[in-house]
Amino acid sequence: MMACQEWPEPIIRVQSLAESGINAIPERFIKPQSQRPKTQSNVVPTKQGFNDVDVENINIPVIDFQDLYGEDKNLKEQTLKRVSEACREWGFFQVLNHGVNHDLMKSAREVWREFFHQPIEAKEKYANSPLTYEGYGSRLGIKKGAILDWSDYFFLHYMPSSLRDQEKWPSLPNSLRDVIDEYGDEVVKLGGRVLELLSINLGLKKDFLMNSFGGESEIGACLRVNFYPKCPQPDLTLGLSSHSDPGGMTILLPDENVSGLQVRRGEHWITVKPVPNAFIINIGDQIQVLSNAIYKSIEHRVIVNSNKDRVSLAFFYNPRSDLLIQPAKELVSEDRPPLYPPMTFDEYRLYIRTKGPCGKSQVESLTSQK
Ligand code: OGA
Ligand code: NI
Repeated sequence: MMACQEWPEPIIRVQSLAESGINAIPERFIKPQSQRPKTQSNVVPTKQGFNDVDVENINIPVIDFQDLYGEDKNLKEQTLKRVSEACREWGFFQVLNHGVNHDLMKSAREVWREFFHQPIEAKEKYANSPLTYEGYGSRLGIKKGAILDWSDYFFLHYMPSSLRDQEKWPSLPNSLRDVIDEYGDEVVKLGGRVLELLSINLGLKKDFLMNSFGGESEIGACLRVNFYPKCPQPDLTLGLSSHSDPGGMTILLPDENVSGLQVRRGEHWITVKPVPNAFIINIGDQIQVLSNAIYKSIEHRVIVNSNKDRVSLAFFYNPRSDLLIQPAKELVSEDRPPLYPPMTFDEYRLYIRTKGPCGKSQVESLTSQK
């Protein structure tokens, strides 16, 4: 399918809609009953043994990286083990003492909040198209009449450096470009450290995943800043529909005050309770493939609320887009054959785009394809 250059219908800025003072959301944002936030039954115990109280109180694993770089071997082992379990069972964890400066995290969030709070004309200068998605956007996909999510976003390329074009980044607030440049640099470094941990935990050489991604200067990285305006009818819609992240892994800086991200756990949706100064890291489809499904790319979605806007920075850390990604041969055996065919990240993105959304983690459909 040829990429289409224009949106199929006029773009609605969700923030403008929210600020117009409506008290009912347009039909275009109303999700079918089964996708609405409150459809989960909290009374049925699940395989994991949850009861209804647990579902509310449970959180994704929170892991402190401090001990990884200390002297104590035992503590280091324990931390690695916790990362391993999180990748196998949750596909998600929060990380503390990750090495990224807390003030820089705060500034990154603040410059984007300022950007979104500028007048609409200032933002429209950066309006994006479905060709590259770079810039200010309010929808994903080009299906005419599609049901939309309750969010706006700004999308930009950070790596490879040949795709980084600061002219396409907002020039206001003044500090945005410098802050995001520095932030990107630090988050890319964190991504490299995490790839090393995952490689070790999988019993592979510590540079295995980095090499599979093409090496430090060749990886792909992009930032999607999500803005979820207040919503007068949060029970009827979603800020971001259920999806798995197609890339390598995602390093998310959530809003410090407002929760909204939900992670699928069996039949339940677990609301992530963000820990101050932590990043939320999740496994994407490409690491699920490389690990031959030992690590899971888990479905997640975002709910909105009627009182507070929410901002999040999703940094996607991806393999170079033209390298073949396939299960590591060390993780393949007669008992555990390769679950996925070799495919480049470029091919994969095209594949999921043409296939259209499916209810489960997108990469699952590759298994059933064979
Ligand atoms: C994403 C995403 C979660 C959030 O951008 O892919 O899942 O909390 N974001 O905004
Ligand atoms: Ni996501």
